[in-house]
Amino acid sequence: MGLISPDKIAEIRDRTDIVSVIGEFVSLRRSGSNHVGLCPFHTEKTPSFNVSATKQFFYCFGCQKSGDVFRFLMELEGRSFAEVARDLARRAGVEIPEEPAQTPAEQQRRREAADERSRLLRLCDIVCSWFEGQLQRSPRAQEYLARRGINETTRRVFRLGYAPEGWDALQRYLEQRGVPWELYEKAGLGIRREGAALPPPRSPATRYSHYDRFRDRIIFPLITPAGEVVAFAGRALPREADEAASSGGSEREVAKYINSPESLLYKKGEHLYGLHAARDAVRKSRQVILVEGNFDVLSLHQRAINNAVAPMGTALTATQVRLLKRLLGPEGHVVLMLDGDRAGRSATLKDIWLFTEANVEDVAMLSGHEVDVRVAQLPDGEDPDTYAARDLEGMVRRIRAAKPAVDYVLDEAIKLAEHDSIAGKAKVLMKVVPLLKAIPNRDVQEMYVAKLAMELGLEERHIWRRVRGSPSNLARPAPTRSREPSQQQALRLDPIELQLVALCGDHPHLCASLPDDLLDRLSEPALGELLREARELGKAGEMSAHQLVELAPPELRGAVARAALGGQFAQLQQPETVLSTICAQLRIRAIEREEKELLSSLGQAQRAQDEQRVKDLLKRILDLQHERRAIRQGGGPAAWPSVH
Ligand code: UTP
Ligand code: MN
Repeated sequence: MGLISPDKIAEIRDRTDIVSVIGEFVSLRRSGSNHVGLCPFHTEKTPSFNVSATKQFFYCFGCQKSGDVFRFLMELEGRSFAEVARDLARRAGVEIPEEPAQTPAEQQRRREAADERSRLLRLCDIVCSWFEGQLQRSPRAQEYLARRGINETTRRVFRLGYAPEGWDALQRYLEQRGVPWELYEKAGLGIRREGAALPPPRSPATRYSHYDRFRDRIIFPLITPAGEVVAFAGRALPREADEAASSGGSEREVAKYINSPESLLYKKGEHLYGLHAARDAVRKSRQVILVEGNFDVLSLHQRAINNAVAPMGTALTATQVRLLKRLLGPEGHVVLMLDGDRAGRSATLKDIWLFTEANVEDVAMLSGHEVDVRVAQLPDGEDPDTYAARDLEGMVRRIRAAKPAVDYVLDEAIKLAEHDSIAGKAKVLMKVVPLLKAIPNRDVQEMYVAKLAMELGLEERHIWRRVRGSPSNLARPAPTRSREPSQQQALRLDPIELQLVALCGDHPHLCASLPDDLLDRLSEPALGELLREARELGKAGEMSAHQLVELAPPELRGAVARAALGGQFAQLQQPETVLSTICAQLRIRAIEREEKELLSSLGQAQRAQDEQRVKDLLKRILDLQHERRAIRQGGGPAAWPSVH
């Protein structure tokens, strides 16, 4: 049986939207940044089942079941990981080597799904070629593209086409080829006429049963990096009437763009327009330029800026962010270059958030890297297409000088606050604080806080209070982090501290006996605080794994959830013993840290010839060494966990 490689698993995960998968089984409604519904794993009347799109994680506060999309399907359908992964891969269009099916029925089912997918792909490809051919035949469409500055190469690389006027041009072509109406419909190319009788199964559509979705439009096929055409976008061609009366009454009633509906091949928000042409450039330059429009993508590619993509018809989604992050790898960065208008600016802020959330989440979950987000601003009223045509050098300059997202947000906020009242400034502060919180590097964070304080005429401590947040938020500034964070730094949790969390997650009753002195000595004070709260709840008999996750401050929650829900110690018969061992190790680490500090103080004291201090320090160091030895020998001070 072929194992699925971790790479593939990651790809499947990235390309799968947990909300839409779970949404097929559970009716979900949005609540804040999550979706909630009735838990499918236990009976309940009020919804406590949460699904997070950004975290790609589900969690039931009722029965405490949690996990990712794989776990969900495994639990719900009692299937193996491999089965679930293969299913999701098919759904997401990720190719994995086939595993031999166990039963003939399974074999049959698989063959059918695979067949349908490949039939749809073949159809889309044929139709794409046909649209391309139609463009060659339409002087009007060609002239439009020429007017938009699109050259022959770009047309070819992006397989641009034209969907002719009339209701059934494509339909008639497909009829000749004997394509059944079911396929024409499933590919999103044909729309069923309301109330019409359907043709017999597997026969072509007729003009009484269906009409073409794309009519008199420039066609932008959505091509995957694998070269498959999975959907289409169609841009309306201006009619002479529109051009004559470009303002006012005779505006066409049709939408400027229409896109294929979702299908077996295509899920909204999971693809990026232009990626097939941009992927190599993105990988090489470790940079991606995110623009709004399909024409922007074409325009930049044509000017040798090959790493531009657009979300295609939707606002940027968390899934697309994941896709980009994976493609960029560590050290990569995104340049947001959206339109120079109000909508563009507001989308920029939203996109910055999506990336920041994904970054914070990945770091907390130990599952990825951060990508930098920068913003290239365009002059008012321009989009990348118009601007590149007018001033390419200016555009390149702006891309090079793109400012870090935090600067952008701060500058926007400061602009807003410039003439504002105190209350207005407070509002501005609320807007930027979440972003400031998410800055991993302490020095950088300090500089931004200083800048903001100066610009808003506030004292820094007011801002710090918010940035550090309520007591359950990161109580201490995060340590400075290098660009390539080691896992430990990324988390700010020591692996042994994580084990402690894991143990408490599997055996929450142990929380009641967490030793006080140890909680003061953890390397991450916020974790100490969390466990202290857990201990209080534990004493009251109210502790559980999900409490632990819930109590965790946002910065720790992912790591805590992962450790606490991982089940590493679930099988233990005598968890108390493991608790003692872990505590001993943690104590030794704390002692070592303290010793190191004392030793450096000792050096100073010796240089300063401060004999009294030298004496004191030596004594404390000796005490610590003593303590450490005692712990190693399995004895231990009185503060050891006494488990009842
Ligand atoms: P724009 O209106 O900026 O389009 O919308 P554009 O691509 O720059 O096209 P031109 O230059 O005006 O001809 C940006 C993107 O939003 C989506 C499309 O994907 C478009 O490329 N969109 C826009 C729609 O899906 N539907 C619409 O009606 C309009
Ligand atoms: Mn535009």
